[in-house]
Amino acid sequence: MDAMAFHRCADYQALSEKASECLIRAITQNPQATICLATGGTPLLTYSMFVSKVKQRNIDISQITFVKLDEWLNIPLNADGTCETFLQTHIIQPLNIAPERFISFRSQNVDDKECQRVIELITQNGGIDLCVLGLGKNGHLGLNEPGDSLEPACHITMLDEHTRQHAMIKDSEQPVERGITLGLREIMAAREILFLVAGEWKQSAFSKLLEKKVSCQTPSSFLWMHQNVHCLYDSTRFTQELEN
Ligand code: PGA
Repeated sequence: MDAMAFHRCADYQALSEKASECLIRAITQNPQATICLATGGTPLLTYSMFVSKVKQRNIDISQITFVKLDEWLNIPLNADGTCETFLQTHIIQPLNIAPERFISFRSQNVDDKECQRVIELITQNGGIDLCVLGLGKNGHLGLNEPGDSLEPACHITMLDEHTRQHAMIKDSEQPVERGITLGLREIMAAREILFLVAGEWKQSAFSKLLEKKVSCQTPSSFLWMHQNVHCLYDSTRFTQELEN
């Protein structure tokens, strides 16, 4: 039996609704959960629905810790288009999360010590309970970029050509060439993964994933080796038949 459970969603709205309920379930089952969050177009509506539900249902999230999955380097943290600005705008500020409950990479003047700092904070919090991920057009996960080999742990990386064109940074004043990301080691150590597949130009990356072959050229394929992945996909975009 595969550990990756596929959930066909009628459209992006339905995917976001289901994903937001998964987040609600995670924080109500474990009010001290540590939740790692991807950024980008894919989880945008999920996060907005999640915030509304937390408020409507009056859920106490004061003991939840959020972790930023990755960040672009060499642009100010508060610039438009950073992962920081995205999460601050869509999760951290609307939910009034205390600074000590948000584990977040810096974006300037960082070296490998920044990876160590973030990993230690995650460890002190007992590890990641739920990791929300999106699929990159090039098959990446976080900023674990395709290549002949992969860095196993949290690292600073050169961005792939496709990633440099990501909507978040393509209009950045300075070209963004590097990023910092949790590695597959930290991602695979999450107790549960919520993998969201939506958006344009991802058919080929999704088809590759569905080949069920683990390859460094498709970093998301490593999810086949995780024991507890829920993959929610927008069936208006992906016609591959996956019946569960
Ligand atoms: P997207 O980005 O959600 O904006 O499509 C996903 C990614 O590149 O990882």
